[in-house]
Amino acid sequence: MKRSFAYTLVALTGMFFFFAFTLDQGTSSTEMAMGKFKIPKKVNAIIQDKCYGCHNPNAKGDKSKAKLDWDALAGLSMADQAMKVKDIAKVLADGSMPPKMMTDRNPDKKLTDAETATMSKWANKMVKKLSK
Ligand code: HEC
Repeated sequence: MKRSFAYTLVALTGMFFFFAFTLDQGTSSTEMAMGKFKIPKKVNAIIQDKCYGCHNPNAKGDKSKAKLDWDALAGLSMADQAMKVKDIAKVLADGSMPPKMMTDRNPDKKLTDAETATMSKWANKMVKKLSK
């Protein structure tokens, strides 16, 4: 009796991880909300189009990966999230991302003024929320 309970428990735990894992594959983890950290769909669409290519765990450039990995953001501590979001707000304010080297070659990868405004609004709000 006790034993079958243990088996059931193991099976249930296994199922939980299986589903948690498969669900995670379906939705980009940047869309997931973790505590106060949230990325609205509208912002996420811009990130996917203009930022994610260089800032993801499989990106080619080690430097961009090390500085910012969108997939890892949701799992960071609040203090680290606040730090990253501050960096993001900074690059949006000074227009340094995506790097000029890239936008010179692909002008359509430049952030439009509207996109910069949308992302800045989100980043500044997040900085405030996470620093509380
Ligand atoms: C073509 C590749 C590329 C794209 C696209 C790109 N980045 Fe970067 N990003 C980099 C590289 C490379 C670095 C590291 C620069 C360095 O250390 O000098 C970086 C660094 C950063 C940093 C850290 C800056 C710092 O001062 O530490 C932030 C924040 C950032 N990027 C945000 C973004 C955002 C937001 C977007 C989209 C609007 C974006 N990046 C798009 C390549 C890219």
